[in-house]
Amino acid sequence: KIFTNEELYRPNLHFTPNKGWMNDPNGLFFYKGLYHLYFQHYPDKNVWGPMHWGHATSKDMITWEEQKIALFPDEKGYIFSGSAVVDVHNTSGFGSLKNPPIVAMFTYHDAVKEKTGAIDYQSQAIAYSLDEGMTWTKFKGNPVIKNPGIKDFRDPKMTWDAIHNQWIMVLAADVETNIYRSSNLINWELVSAFGKNLGVHGSPWECPDFFPIKVEGSTEMKWVLLQSINPNGPNGGSATQYFVGDFDGKTFTLGNSFANDLKQETAFWVDYGKDNYAGVTWSNIPDTDGRKLFIGWMSNWEYANKVPTENWRSSTTIARELKLLNINGHYRIVSLPVKELDKYVSKTIKRDLLTIDKETVIVDKSTVDMSRLDIHFTMNGLKDDNYDFILSNKEKNALHFGINKKDKCFYIDRKYVSKTTFSDEFAKKISKAPISSDFSSIDVRIIIDKTSIEVFYDNGKTVMTEIYFTDKPMDSFSIAKANTAFELKNVFIKQLNI
Ligand code: FRU
Repeated sequence: KIFTNEELYRPNLHFTPNKGWMNDPNGLFFYKGLYHLYFQHYPDKNVWGPMHWGHATSKDMITWEEQKIALFPDEKGYIFSGSAVVDVHNTSGFGSLKNPPIVAMFTYHDAVKEKTGAIDYQSQAIAYSLDEGMTWTKFKGNPVIKNPGIKDFRDPKMTWDAIHNQWIMVLAADVETNIYRSSNLINWELVSAFGKNLGVHGSPWECPDFFPIKVEGSTEMKWVLLQSINPNGPNGGSATQYFVGDFDGKTFTLGNSFANDLKQETAFWVDYGKDNYAGVTWSNIPDTDGRKLFIGWMSNWEYANKVPTENWRSSTTIARELKLLNINGHYRIVSLPVKELDKYVSKTIKRDLLTIDKETVIVDKSTVDMSRLDIHFTMNGLKDDNYDFILSNKEKNALHFGINKKDKCFYIDRKYVSKTTFSDEFAKKISKAPISSDFSSIDVRIIIDKTSIEVFYDNGKTVMTEIYFTDKPMDSFSIAKANTAFELKNVFIKQLNI
């Protein structure tokens, strides 16, 4: 069978725009039972271009319905990344208490001014919606934050700070994150800057997100700053680091333990794979729920414009819940797919115990559709060895990933997946994530789609997300032989019908 580009590459489990280009998720908010996802979008071509905000809605962050384009570029510029909040108390005055406005803030990128050699071509602007996010009116007084003479000045992320009773907003200002506050979403006061000499730098920061989060199993509150950077991710190109600390309403300071940990590791990453960038969290999740819900762009600026899809380019990651753990005094973000994914399980194969003493096929296309799987197992009896997982097909397309305890890393190797030559950066190096502690047993969860794997080790303490492109669909998942036999326990292979 000859597969069309759509059949081979359009994901089953992930959002993609119907046509054209997509990058960062924007304006994530939840209201009246709907999750809204806006996104950096160029509808006319499948490469980056004059930016719009595309729009999609979902009841559960898993199945998406694409809506009409929300924001179009205009004489003030392209519509770059930003955020949206439900202005429940109508602090902006754009709506009423009965019909609260949704307020979005985005960056105007004035491409005409950029060409003149000026550096002050990015500024922040707002728009509001009185019909629950379906149509938008740009504010007449834009920009609400003028450019202060900083070339890279963008990606505002607003949050209601219930602790200090104020709106806050963070944006990337060259090599720092600026923190602003406001009482009405229109007038913004710059209160501090964070990060100049912290974490990974080497280019401007992009797409911050800043929010309070409860430490799991306690009443302690911490503040987390997600901070994307491109290039210089742990495996090259784009990636998102994070910081954990305290916020007094004006200034963000790292707790001692996190600051000490940073010195050793330079940065902590939400995801160590190459394809999870510019991810941010949904606003206005009601208190009864309170989860921190995250979605990222599943690509990397090193090759996003060149991947071999034809009608569209890029998809989102699976939506994830972020949690903050205190592991013996060390604060760490963990993430796992949102529980809503479980609703879509259409078939489950369960095996209590498998002993791996030779290369073993865990599942293949004779029993499930290999392009829509959620696989979960615990590995026991691990030694100082390499544990190689292989997603492959008869054409010898093979994606290798797994746990190399000898080299102290988790890894993904895309070298043998066949379609790799569209970019030198795509498969040249094996992607790695450090293994933090010694263990003989580990929990592994893998989401497999036509063109991506998302691997969650140790209940989401280390995550690796990567895309891949094959000649023919993958048809089996197997685990290679290690030097000594080991066990897989509680193996669940779930087929997802989305
Ligand atoms: C991140 C980014 C943002 C910018 C947008 C432009 O991927 O570079 O900083 O707002 O993409 O599309």
